[in-house]
Amino acid sequence: MKIRTLLGDITKLECDAIVNAANTSLLGGGGVDGAIHKAAGPELLEACKELHGCDTGQAKITWGYQLPAKYVIHTPGPIWRGGDQGEEALLADSYRNCLELADCHDCQTVAFPSISTGVYRFPLEKAAKIAVETIKSFESRASVVQEVILVAFDSRTKEYYDRALETV
Ligand code: APR
Repeated sequence: MKIRTLLGDITKLECDAIVNAANTSLLGGGGVDGAIHKAAGPELLEACKELHGCDTGQAKITWGYQLPAKYVIHTPGPIWRGGDQGEEALLADSYRNCLELADCHDCQTVAFPSISTGVYRFPLEKAAKIAVETIKSFESRASVVQEVILVAFDSRTKEYYDRALETV
């Protein structure tokens, strides 16, 4: 399984699944959530309404509609509250549950944004390490997923994910 970083806009990626850093309502928001809903069109929100929310660390899947990606996998990452509320484990759950959902929907390529490191204020260096550790530990269980792309929206974020790929 190949893991690489990419600097860019996840809504432009023509891969099997892109991951949305959602909130527990799954009814849209700002950041990458807002960008994905804008690019996918109104059908995405209609589909999300049928999902009746999603717990933090869990993941649910919809079609990508007007996005180039076939699927959107929605996961609410944890809000950083200082680190003693199980945030690190919940972030790992988000990555793992998205990969498991992608694998059982025959996705060969999956793209992740930097979950929880924007509005949810999860420290970027910690988040990047957790993301890479979780993805690497999934590798031995992957049956379909062949490539994971870690999409950074800015160069500082990309540097942290590149460093995590080198050191983890
Ligand atoms: N493509 C890739 N990455 C993006 C894009 C995009 N188009 N837009 C934003 N990002 C990046 C941000 O720069 C940040 O690095 O996604 C990362 C996650 O930031 P947020 O979108 O703020 O997500 P998060 O921190 O998980 O907070 C989720 O914010 O938008 C609301 O509804 C969402 O309540 C939820 C919360």
